[in-house]
Amino acid sequence: MCGIFGVVARDERLLGELLVEAGRRLAYRGYDSVGCATVADDGTVDLRKDVGRVDDVNERLRLAELRGRRGMVQLRWATFGAPSHENAQPHLDSDGDLVGAHNGNIVNNVQLREAFLAEGMTVRGTNDGESCVHAVERYVDRGHPMEEAVRLATRDLEGDYAFVIGSIDDDTLYAVKQGSGLAAGLGDDATYISSDLPSLLPLTQRVVRLEDGEMVILRWDRVEIRRIEDGVPVERAPETVEWDVEAAQKGGHAHFMLKEIHEQPRRARDLLHYLEASTEVAGFLEEIRTARRLYLVGCGTSYHACLLGAASLNRLAGIPAVAALAPQFRETLAHTLSPRDVVVWVSQSGETKDVLSALKGARGTGARMLGVLNVIGSSLMHACDRYLPLVCGYETSVPATKTFLNQALLFMWLADRLRHGGTPIRWEGFPELIEETLRTTSAGVDTIADLLAPLAESYTLGYGLTLGIALEGALKLKEVTYIHCEGMLSSEFKHGPLSAVHEGYPVLFVCAPGDAPMVVSHVSEVTCRGGVAVAVAAPDALLAANVHHLIQLPQAEPEVTALLAVLPLQLASYQLSVRLGIDPDFPRNLSKTLTVD
Ligand code: AGP
Repeated sequence: MCGIFGVVARDERLLGELLVEAGRRLAYRGYDSVGCATVADDGTVDLRKDVGRVDDVNERLRLAELRGRRGMVQLRWATFGAPSHENAQPHLDSDGDLVGAHNGNIVNNVQLREAFLAEGMTVRGTNDGESCVHAVERYVDRGHPMEEAVRLATRDLEGDYAFVIGSIDDDTLYAVKQGSGLAAGLGDDATYISSDLPSLLPLTQRVVRLEDGEMVILRWDRVEIRRIEDGVPVERAPETVEWDVEAAQKGGHAHFMLKEIHEQPRRARDLLHYLEASTEVAGFLEEIRTARRLYLVGCGTSYHACLLGAASLNRLAGIPAVAALAPQFRETLAHTLSPRDVVVWVSQSGETKDVLSALKGARGTGARMLGVLNVIGSSLMHACDRYLPLVCGYETSVPATKTFLNQALLFMWLADRLRHGGTPIRWEGFPELIEETLRTTSAGVDTIADLLAPLAESYTLGYGLTLGIALEGALKLKEVTYIHCEGMLSSEFKHGPLSAVHEGYPVLFVCAPGDAPMVVSHVSEVTCRGGVAVAVAAPDALLAANVHHLIQLPQAEPEVTALLAVLPLQLASYQLSVRLGIDPDFPRNLSKTLTVD
């Protein structure tokens, strides 16, 4: 959340277009406000910022026309300070000699602001990014050279963050990494810094990843890393990272969300090939098999995949795996960990702070830390003892779709490998089943969208294996349509929420093969009170006779059917979002990567 990007070029030039482009690539991290600043050779700072999204603010303030030798852009997801012009980043110091922007949270922001005001500084807003700039100002004013001032400032800043700052008095940018992602890029006639490595790749594939506790000094022809603690230089050779051009384009689709939904057959196929061929998988399987206790931990969509993963490991392999939300795990089950336990941390981005903090807290217990992640090189990858990749390619749209499918698929595949008896799942035909489901459920998708469009709320209910799908379907709908949809266990509905049902009230049921006899009772509790029941399930006469609409999935094993059920729910959310005039790639108030607690 929040994106920062900086550039130091060989000579003064038009930097605005480059900054706006970088801003567009970082937009998924936050879109409450956007700001750009450039510093010209004569020391003039041109700072333009406002509430809104990159293209709107660019149109209003002509960001693309900014000139300078150094520049930065910041995309904000508001935490400290309301989205406003004053709180938009970058920020200036009191005299306008320093300009900087941050990503992350400075948790002692309130105390710092009071101290800065008491010291006579000009504090313009309440945003914690401004505190990073004043913290450096404090040491510059006391006579410290810029590099030292930046290092000293970090001692005053509490929290997890990264920031970039420049002074009018030199030709450099300085950046610090303390808990939030940061990578530098080396171009032919410029260097770059970004909170988000993929955003660098259209400019250069030669990158240097920073580690926590490091700062980097950017000059147009080189980057120098120092330890923040004592200023000792750190040698790190640049690496060459491949750029997935296709991932940066919508491929003929109106939105990235739709493109990513339709990518799922191919991404599932890629993952299945990886799982069959990789030598990493055997070790991962063995750790899961021999774990005394096994926990699958994540947040949001990744947590829902953990629910499906745990259910599959319970049912197929007889392994008592437990799914947990990362912050709650940190406060409860983490206290019970011991060396023979295994925790699998699941995260698309590998940068989710709730996940990384829980992992950090659990580290000292001696339990094994495994990862399931999409972004290679992410903080989670480095923090784990071993990991498996999701092989999804870059996921751009804020709502996770293809990464959810591959997360759940990965766990189901592992559970199937560890199964006790029964017939193994025929995974080879799975990508085709995804294609078939996307094709054949479109009428059902329309039905869901029609039913939900006039409403402000609904429920999605699952049972057993499909609980995770119901929660995920409800999250997707909430996320991109702003319609309140609660996901829950269908048997729980009668314990209170049933009171919401009235004539015409729609309830979605997700049902795996074998569960219909139980689920039909839950359906009847709704329909006998005038509610409209829609089921997403494989063909089933009992279910068909009891619901108003059955959205039919292909016949397959229960785990496969459960997984396929998410597809019409993703599509319905997308379709409804577009109908309601919402941009599903950038739902309000959200960010793709949540790097704060
Ligand atoms: C899903 O659509 C959301 N974007 C969100 O719930 C997300 O899954 C969650 O923030 C966790 O992200 P991660 O997988 O990158 O850790």
